[in-house]
Amino acid sequence: MAQPKGFTLWFTGLSGSGKSTLANHLAKELRHRGLQVEILDGDEVRTNLSKGLGFSKEDRDTNIKRIGYVCKLLTRNGVVAISAAISPYREVRDHNRQEIGQFIEVYVECSIEELTRRDVKGLYKKALAGELKNFTGVSDPYEPPLKAEIVVNSGKQAEQDSLQAILAYLEQHGWIPAAGAAKPHG
Ligand code: ADX
Repeated sequence: MAQPKGFTLWFTGLSGSGKSTLANHLAKELRHRGLQVEILDGDEVRTNLSKGLGFSKEDRDTNIKRIGYVCKLLTRNGVVAISAAISPYREVRDHNRQEIGQFIEVYVECSIEELTRRDVKGLYKKALAGELKNFTGVSDPYEPPLKAEIVVNSGKQAEQDSLQAILAYLEQHGWIPAAGAAKPHG
């Protein structure tokens, strides 16, 4: 039986931009199409694999390399690995791209104005008031990808449209079967 084709879908974007939500909905759809999927979510990883790490550049880079390493193991075993961490530094994202090979970067864009309006965790308000140091996008850098395979904008696009754009890319590039197609190993 042919080994299913693994790949890593690497989300990047500011806190609250919608990476986790998109990752979860995407995972559901991909499983529905017969694929094996794992999500490495930033908040969750920081409670286990990266417990104890903070938000200095060094700690963030360590966090992102760890996530990248797990994605690499999953990818080479035919799993779709989805990372949903801010991953603010371009160099480390590109390092993971080189290591993993089968790597598709999804930039979830969203303006600071919109993120501040949403502010689900109340962190933007604190950061803008100067009460939270090193907060990505406000008091810490975010380096957007220069050539992400997919760019969506959660402030301007409906979530369903972003989801469709990602699925369309994956279908068109032969990463996943089309909806309704025979399961790859069913
Ligand atoms: S990353 O920079 O290392 O990729 P990661 O995605 O794991 O970040 O964690 C980001 C989450 O941690 C945010 O969604 C937010 O809830 C929380 N957080 C706490 N402090 C910070 C901070 N200084 N900068 C960004 N996110 C923070």
